[in-house]
Amino acid sequence: MKTTFITCASLLLAWTALSWPAAKPAAKFEFDKETPLWDVMSKLGKIKQNMLDTSRPQSAQKGLELVQESQTTDFNGRKIAKIASIPCLACHNAQPEYNRLDELDPQKRLIYADSAQMPFLPGAPFYGIVNRIYFFTEDYQTIYKNEPKDKLIKAAHVDLRKAIQACNQVYAKGRELENWEVESILAYFWSLEIKMGDLNVPEEDMQDVSYSLTTNLGNAKAVNVLRRHYPEVYPATLTAAQPVAKRKKTSPILNNFSNGRKIYELSCLYCHGGKKYADFKLDEEQSTFLFLKKNFDDTTSRFSIYDALRYSPTSKSNRSGTPHFTQQRLSDQQLQDLRFYIIQMAKFGDEAYEYFKHQKENSRQ
Ligand code: HEC
Ligand code: HEC
Repeated sequence: MKTTFITCASLLLAWTALSWPAAKPAAKFEFDKETPLWDVMSKLGKIKQNMLDTSRPQSAQKGLELVQESQTTDFNGRKIAKIASIPCLACHNAQPEYNRLDELDPQKRLIYADSAQMPFLPGAPFYGIVNRIYFFTEDYQTIYKNEPKDKLIKAAHVDLRKAIQACNQVYAKGRELENWEVESILAYFWSLEIKMGDLNVPEEDMQDVSYSLTTNLGNAKAVNVLRRHYPEVYPATLTAAQPVAKRKKTSPILNNFSNGRKIYELSCLYCHGGKKYADFKLDEEQSTFLFLKKNFDDTTSRFSIYDALRYSPTSKSNRSGTPHFTQQRLSDQQLQDLRFYIIQMAKFGDEAYEYFKHQKENSRQ
């Protein structure tokens, strides 16, 4: 009896082993520095957004050309009509703007831009844009109302394709994009997705992530750990130009000359120098600084830098199609440093460089 039982049991076991291959532990998901962040996030259960639609014609190379030159060829090799008068890369950097992706402070970004000799621009960077979930956030969804194209901006909030479409018409002053053009720009954006090695995640947090990937436990927490290390949203505070009385207050105590110079060189001249991306020409002649200074506080002039740079719906320069700098892209302090620099350059010309040589970099002494 005993033997029969054992025989039966072993037969049963043998059968089970044959028909039910022993449940293997799920293949361990390994990742390294090059693994796209989205692969890890998807594995942890986060739903991938703004994915490419592979059934639509598209080409990341054509997307790059559109972003760089507003021009490319269609799939029959014919040159297309320019999509806009200013290319996307006039206003957006493609590379990260700081060595930590979660750093959004405009002053740290300016110092980094200066050290890396990259431009300081109004648009949020394209690097990691497919890892973001909302676009044209905050004030773009609240105070940017009643503008001629506000509906495009509204639709853009949760949809990257629509954000591409909106920006090309609102800021690049371009035409409506065709489907394959949008899809190609999106394909190019996917080539700029964040990799695991780009995140500065501390070792113990990374262990939590690995634990979840192996055990399938604590996934939501692991997602949140990773989300802390890059922006899913670029905040956007669209302030109006500061009141005149307030902006008049500049001094070597309050302001930093070399900071103003950096902004002028890495931002203003990038677009206005040699009329590269804007009709209004700026250079480093004393007469140019005198002209800018003269118009600082004339709120009826389209040449006031305050009205040009800030979102000021009632001003003339707002109507001339200037790209807006949010507080996060250019702070009021930075704008005042720029004012201080322009005043000194208008007063002393190139001598100002010598004069302020010893003002400390990081202090507004
Ligand atoms: C003249 C300047 C300018 C040009 C040209 C321009 N943009 Fe923008 N773009 C902006 C500004 C300003 C914002 C708002 C940035 C912010 O949220 O602070 C923006 C926002 C965006 C956003 C949303 C980003 C986010 O994280 O909220 C996308 C996407 C975008 N632009 C795509 C494009 C594409 C694609 C092109 C070219 C077809 C383009 N832009 C051309 C200035 C420009
Ligand atoms: C990304 C490109 C870009 C950057 C950076 C930029 N501008 Fe502009 N700016 C423009 C465009 C485009 C216009 C629209 C009018 C034109 O084409 O000249 C404009 C308009 C202006 C105007 C109004 C001119 C007019 O004809 O009404 C002023 C003043 C101005 N910018 C000053 C500045 C200053 C100062 C800076 C530096 C902080 C700066 N801009 C940075 C692109 C830029």
